Amino acid sequence: MPDPTSPLLHFDALAPMRAQVRAWRSDGETIVLVPTMGALHAGHLALVEHARGLGRRVVVSIFVNPTQFGPNEDFGRYPRDIAADLGLLRGVGTDAAWVPDTATMYPEGFSTRIKVTGPSEDLCGAFRPGHFSGVATVVMKLVNQVQPDAALFGEKDFQQLHVIRRAMRDLDRDVAIHGMPTLREADGLALSSRNRYLNPEERIAAPRLHAVLTGIAEGLAAGKDAGPLLEEGRTLLEAAGFTPVQYLEARDADTLVPIARATGPARVLAAAYLGRTRLIDNVAVAL
Ligand code: PAJ
Repeated sequence: MPDPTSPLLHFDALAPMRAQVRAWRSDGETIVLVPTMGALHAGHLALVEHARGLGRRVVVSIFVNPTQFGPNEDFGRYPRDIAADLGLLRGVGTDAAWVPDTATMYPEGFSTRIKVTGPSEDLCGAFRPGHFSGVATVVMKLVNQVQPDAALFGEKDFQQLHVIRRAMRDLDRDVAIHGMPTLREADGLALSSRNRYLNPEERIAAPRLHAVLTGIAEGLAAGKDAGPLLEEGRTLLEAAGFTPVQYLEARDADTLVPIARATGPARVLAAAYLGRTRLIDNVAVAL
C-alpha cells in the first residue's frame, strides 16, 4: 500500500507527469486514475481510497472541464479550491495530482470531439446537449495522458459511467473502468460539489430526492408497474419543491433502456431543480 505520509506530487505540465508515470510503470507498478473536477468531498475521497486498493499508484486529476458545461450552466461559479483539494488528497495517500490548465488540455487549434450516441443522448443528455461529448472527450484525454491500468468513477453519475464505459469499449481503449457506490449524507442526500449551492431551506428539502427514488425502487422490486410509481414520484418531488423535474425514469441498469417493470438489473434515475441548483441521483432496484 502507498504510504499515506509520502509527499503528494503535483503536476500542471504534461511532460513531467508522463515521465513520472513512465518511471512507476518501468518499476512494474500499476496506476489507477481518479478523474475529478475538484471541490473534493468525502465521495471523491472514497474513490481515491478504493483506488489505493486497486493499484500501487493513484493519480487524481483535477480539471473543471469547460466543454462539458452548457452556455447557461455553472462553469463560472463552479467551486474551485485547489489548496484545500491538495490537502485532502494528501490525507488519503494520493501519489500524484494532475492539475492541467485549460490551455494545456485544449491547446490553440484543438479540434477533436468524441460523440457518444445511443443512451447518452437521453436522460441528462437530452437536457444538457454536448455534455457527454465533453465528458467522453476529456476522460479519453485524461486516460491517454496518464495511461492508467484502471480508472474509477462514481455511480452517482450513473449515465456518465455508462457513457465512459461505452466510449472506452468502442474506441478499444484498454483500461478497466470501475464504478463505485454513491456516498450519502446521513439523511440520504448524495454528496455533490454542487450541494454547497443549496440554501438552508433547500438543503432540508434535498434528501426527498433520494427518498422518492428509493420508494420507486422498492415498488419496482415488489413487482409493481413503473408507470404509476413514476407518476406518483413526480408528484411527490414537485410537492417537495423540485421544479422542474427534468426526468424521473426507470431504466435497465446495463443498457439504460426504459423498462415497464423490473425483471433484471434496474435503476431509477432523476434530475430536478431545487431553486437554481440542479440535482441528480439514482438508486438500484434490489431484486
Ligand atoms: P466530479 O463531479 O468532480 O466527480 C468526480 C467523480 O466523483 C465522478 O466519477 C463522480 O461520479 C464521483 N462522485 C461524485 N459524487 C460522488 C458521491 N457522492 N459518491 C461517490 N462518487 C461520487 O464527474 C465529474 O467530476 C466529471 O464529469 C469528470 C468525470 C471528472 C470529467 O470531467
